[in-house]
Amino acid sequence: MISITGATGQLGSAFLRLLPAADGLTRADLDLTRPDLLRDRLDRLSCDTLINCAAYTAVDQAETDEPTAEAVNALSVEVMAKWAADHSVRFVTYSTDYVFDGTKSGPYVESDLPNPQSAYGRTKLLGERMASEANPDCLVLRTSWVISGSHPNFVSTILRLAREKSISVVDDQHGSPTLADDLASHTVRLLDLAAVGLVHATSEGATTWFHLAQAAAEIAGIDPDRISPCSTAEFPRPARRPANSLLVSERYPEVGRMRSWRESLPSAVEQILTWL
Ligand SMILES: NC(=O)c1ccc[n+]([C@@H]2O[C@H](COP(=O)([O-])OP(=O)(O)OC[C@H]3O[C@@H](n4cnc5c(N)ncnc54)[C@H](OP(=O)(O)O)[C@@H]3O)[C@@H](O)[C@H]2O)c1
Repeated sequence: MISITGATGQLGSAFLRLLPAADGLTRADLDLTRPDLLRDRLDRLSCDTLINCAAYTAVDQAETDEPTAEAVNALSVEVMAKWAADHSVRFVTYSTDYVFDGTKSGPYVESDLPNPQSAYGRTKLLGERMASEANPDCLVLRTSWVISGSHPNFVSTILRLAREKSISVVDDQHGSPTLADDLASHTVRLLDLAAVGLVHATSEGATTWFHLAQAAAEIAGIDPDRISPCSTAEFPRPARRPANSLLVSERYPEVGRMRSWRESLPSAVEQILTWL
């Protein structure tokens, strides 16, 4: 049996589409703001694999609420990792490109030194480290720019706004959009290889938020010229984002690469258009 936390989120629900027999856990089942209460809840699970898709993902909000983000993204992850080690349960959790400062000129590999610039990035890095220390056999996947067709996200926001008006989108942050469903399948392939430790996992291909927005608009039949590029400085946000957050993996080449974000974007956009 596989248990999946964050069942209501983008990645958790992608897992439940891929593995319908899995046990999807919501905030009501496991509240990660209370790491002190988690063990008791975890003891009620009967799984051989625990995949943690839950996270405090409100990047800007974390700047003023770091203790809660830390409880969810680090302290609870440590409890789950330790519980899994104690019960011979495989444990998988996810981290982020935002652990890097974005100053490297090429893509980041697993051995590059993190230097988070935001509270969210700090809490996710702490979670990576606490999980690996508590459970050296756990799998920690760093991913980036997660999108899906089933949930509100950057792409759905852009499509909703661009339908109504002209908008500007940041063109000086570079990363890899990653389809949640592809990441779920990739995770299962890594589990089949008995992968452990830190592994980068993103869709192939690099872009900027601006080019992603234009590509999504084109697929949706919206005039891409309604979207114009702007700089990060013109669109200030509470949390600093890395200018370059491209990730590539030097580990488990036998797992193969995920398909490119350009290949996966049309299915996500088509699904978004059914509910937007
Ligand atoms: N989204 C991205 O662009 C991105 C980029 C890099 C890495 N990641 C990482 O990828 C993983 C999956 O992200 P995602 O995009 O699927 O996130 P998401 O759509 O924001 O989903 C987050 C999930 O976590 C749950 N959650 C939040 N706080 C919780 C709490 N206190 N207790 C229990 N559950 C809680 C949410 O439940 P509710 O529905 O009840 O809020 C939701 O199910 C996360 O580790 C994230 O940090 C995401």
